[in-house]
Amino acid sequence: MKKVIITGGCGYIGSFICCKFLKKNFKIFVVDNNKKGNVFINHKNIKYYNFSFGNKKKLFELIKKNNIENFIHLAAYIDSAESVKRPEMYMRNNFYLTKDIFLELPKTSIKRIFFASTAAIFGLSNNKKIGEKYSTSPKSPYGKSKLNVEKFMIKFFKGKNINYIILRLFNVAGANKKLMLGPYNSKYNHIFNKLIRNKKFEIYGTDYLTQDGSAVRDYVHPEDVAEAFFKSHNYLLKERINDIFNCGSGKPFSVKKVVKNFTKYINYKIQIVYKKRRVGDPAYILADNKKIKKKLKLSFKNSKLSKIIPELILWKKALKKRKNLETNKTMIKIK
Ligand SMILES: NC(=O)c1ccc[n+]([C@@H]2O[C@H](COP(=O)([O-])OP(=O)(O)OC[C@H]3O[C@@H](n4cnc5c(N)ncnc54)[C@H](O)[C@@H]3O)[C@@H](O)[C@H]2O)c1
Repeated sequence: MKKVIITGGCGYIGSFICCKFLKKNFKIFVVDNNKKGNVFINHKNIKYYNFSFGNKKKLFELIKKNNIENFIHLAAYIDSAESVKRPEMYMRNNFYLTKDIFLELPKTSIKRIFFASTAAIFGLSNNKKIGEKYSTSPKSPYGKSKLNVEKFMIKFFKGKNINYIILRLFNVAGANKKLMLGPYNSKYNHIFNKLIRNKKFEIYGTDYLTQDGSAVRDYVHPEDVAEAFFKSHNYLLKERINDIFNCGSGKPFSVKKVVKNFTKYINYKIQIVYKKRRVGDPAYILADNKKIKKKLKLSFKNSKLSKIIPELILWKKALKKRKNLETNKTMIKIK
């Protein structure tokens, strides 16, 4: 049975990736300190370890004891706004701890690393699609911490006995009501998180040079992200190389379009407040995903508003029926 260690596996994206790899018959070892994520899947092939991935002793013991070859690294703090207030905390957790363990991974049984990076490593995009070679210029300490990891990986793993894939995720959005997977952490300020939790919504900027004047973003469904991680694994089994992919749907969704579509699925009114642009908010963030589509054979079939919105609403409704779920451990059963 193939084995994988997944750091941050109790988080939003981690829970989807765990489900995907369980379905593909992997044995999963999740390392999560549960500071931000609390989703646990009830399945015989998944085990949870509650410690920071920076605890080298525990981490390397786990790898050695189970002879694990695959390492999916998702654990990170991910709130850009918080990172501006607490840059050292972000740099330490996301970059220095990662660097510390990566330095020693070549001495272990690990053969493949899959790292979750972010579109936040890029700066403004001048209304162009962002390809892998687009210039990097992160606007937040969060983005910088992720870019530092990328730079370190490129340099350090050159010529080593480990191969890696870096997936730069764009805005991840969506849920799965059947499996009860979704964005449990209500603190992140993503557009869909705000829409499903509030009756008032602020649109920042209506005078951008976009079709309807509001900012345009790229949303990718967590099931497509999970597929991207799984296919990255297969890719590295065949090709012993290192590679970087921009992982976005490539579809432009303006803020106004998202809000308009959202209101079609609800039976209450959302009060929309138009505000001035926020400093540093680019007009356009859109992935050029030709490379990932071609090399990993991905279709991003779930990354569309007609799937993202109704599923989030259904998940949120089901969530309401369960008492206090957002603050407690979330136990999910899958067959
Ligand atoms: N959500 C998005 O839209 C998005 C976009 C781009 C990139 N990403 C990246 O994807 C990854 C997962 O994001 P997410 O949305 O699932 O976030 P999340 O906060 O839901 O999950 C992150 C998990 O990591 C854990 N964690 C953090 N620091 C840890 C540590 N030191 N040791 C052990 N566990 C630790 C948290 O407890 C949490 O469960 C992150 O690396 C993030 O940068 C996410």
